[in-house]
Amino acid sequence: MNHFLKISQLSRQQIESLVQRSLEFKQQRNHPSYSQHTVANLFYENSTRTRVSFEMAAHHLSMSVINLDLQNSSESKGEAIEDTIRTLAAMGIKYFVLRHKQEGLQQQLANNIGDAVHIINAGDGTHAHPSQAILDMTTIIEQKPHLDKLKIAVLGNIKHSRVANSFQNICSKLGVGELVLVAPELWQPHTLKYGRITASLVDGLTDADVVICLRVQRERLLEEEHLDLESYRHNYALTQQSLAYAKPDAMVMHPGPMNRGVEIDSDVADGAQSFILDQVTNGVYARMAILDALIKHGS
Ligand code: CP
Repeated sequence: MNHFLKISQLSRQQIESLVQRSLEFKQQRNHPSYSQHTVANLFYENSTRTRVSFEMAAHHLSMSVINLDLQNSSESKGEAIEDTIRTLAAMGIKYFVLRHKQEGLQQQLANNIGDAVHIINAGDGTHAHPSQAILDMTTIIEQKPHLDKLKIAVLGNIKHSRVANSFQNICSKLGVGELVLVAPELWQPHTLKYGRITASLVDGLTDADVVICLRVQRERLLEEEHLDLESYRHNYALTQQSLAYAKPDAMVMHPGPMNRGVEIDSDVADGAQSFILDQVTNGVYARMAILDALIKHGS
């Protein structure tokens, strides 16, 4: 693994190894020291969880971290991202965590720049969010390791969700028993990578072992894709009432940031079945596992 771009490029064995390494890092106090390496965070879209957890992961591995201040970088003078990366690489930085609204940009940069640097996709538009998929799967496997026996429901704006895309790919690679994507017709994608889609919340959530609730991404909706939020909430919000369709011990997950009172109620988000903060915690270990795998590959 020279770059970390999308789940579909990884083998089942590579994914299982990243999940196991994440869980090992969670158990261990002593971590490898990669103090000779530097990682640069280039976030052209906002982030709290992903950016900070990559920074925490790098610190746990004794790496140096540069958070590029994009407001005050030469990007504002028109420098191309490829030139920014080549410039930082010339200073000795080899690891680049990149989030951008342009789908496929990280792949394009990896193709153009080659193997001299390691590009890590921290989210590209509505396309992919592979490190989120690794942390989501780590959180599930930690609680419910028999994936082939599980019914997992993903609820919300599937059409615009890079989280849902990467999650479908990881479920396909690891052989999840049943994946059901639940969305109003307006927010259903034309094609699926895995599982089935339904507009019925009752169908999707009934007997689910895991329910992943997605954020209503208002910023990604086209004019004709806007739904009345009250009506969305009435039909699709994860509330105590809708969660009752799932199994009594169903895990509640959400990649964050949450719109409380829109797609999820606070008593569910903060309730006994919630693993939302466990996802955040595991995000640090998952990103350590990704950096560790890239550094080992390159050394
Ligand atoms: N889940 C996620 O990507 O959160 P951030 O946008 O805060 O990084």
